[in-house]
Amino acid sequence: MEVPDWAQVVAAATRAPSIHDSQPWQFVAAPDRLDVFLDRDRALPVLDPTARQQVISCGSAVEFAVVALSAAGYDGEVYLLTDDGDPDHLATITLTGRREPTEEDRTLAETIGHRHPVGAALQPRAVPTGLADRLQEEGHPYGTWVTPVPEPAELAAWLRGESSGGDVVPDGPDAPPGEGTRPIVVLLGADGDDRYAWLQSGRALGRLLLVATAEGLAASPLTQVLDRPAVRARIQARLSLAGPPQMLVRIGRPPEASGAESKPRPVGEVLRLVPAAG
Ligand SMILES: Cc1cc2nc3c(=O)[nH]c(=O)nc-3n(C[C@H](O)[C@H](O)[C@H](O)COP(=O)(O)O)c2cc1C
Repeated sequence: MEVPDWAQVVAAATRAPSIHDSQPWQFVAAPDRLDVFLDRDRALPVLDPTARQQVISCGSAVEFAVVALSAAGYDGEVYLLTDDGDPDHLATITLTGRREPTEEDRTLAETIGHRHPVGAALQPRAVPTGLADRLQEEGHPYGTWVTPVPEPAELAAWLRGESSGGDVVPDGPDAPPGEGTRPIVVLLGADGDDRYAWLQSGRALGRLLLVATAEGLAASPLTQVLDRPAVRARIQARLSLAGPPQMLVRIGRPPEASGAESKPRPVGEVLRLVPAAG
């Protein structure tokens, strides 16, 4: 099989969102596979002591690589956390053959370079009808659930600890929008709360961001508000979710003028090419 242009695939992967723009990934490409590793040198021990958010970030990078491969005409299987003794070896994409890229493959791949910067103030305009349903469907193939927050104002108040008196989640830019604005807020998670669940959630996040961008929307992942396991467990219980939420995603109409874009690490810094095994 023709070898993919791995530099191009990894360049796409490095456009994925990452907690604090830490870009905590390293890639190793052989002719028929791409391995994705957590880059310990980029760890955020205070902000992200369990690496939950960095593993989610790497999950998004895996998904961006898959999207780039599909658009370049390659089919692949994704394996998460193959037990090879290296806990930082998060994923392997094994090429399985060629494919004719679909219109959607191409659109999503083009979207990778046109994502709206995270954190922009969203316009108070309605999002397309049925968006929440569509996003729920997009999450299924990853074993994740996506659920709109039924009462954003109520959840925001509760996240702030106003009605719980327990763990306090910071107010401010990370708080979901209140009533009167039209962006939507969804919670996203898997069944568990381990690296596997974080990777699945990251992959679904990557997909959601691209689907939303292709719809002309901006989407911001917000996970810091959910960083304490107790907060995640409490939301799971309150909303009867299948697992603890891994992130909030705010989706809405982007502002007219875009803000500053983040700068991906150079591909040469994150990609190592190796010969075929055996
Ligand atoms: C797992 C994860 C958690 C994030 N949490 C937050 C957050 O709590 N608040 C925020 O403003 N941005 C958050 N972000 C967005 C990042 O700050 C953003 O992706 C990064 O700065 C790179 O910018 P870009 O996505 O526009 O390329 C998060 C991103 C990821 C992947």
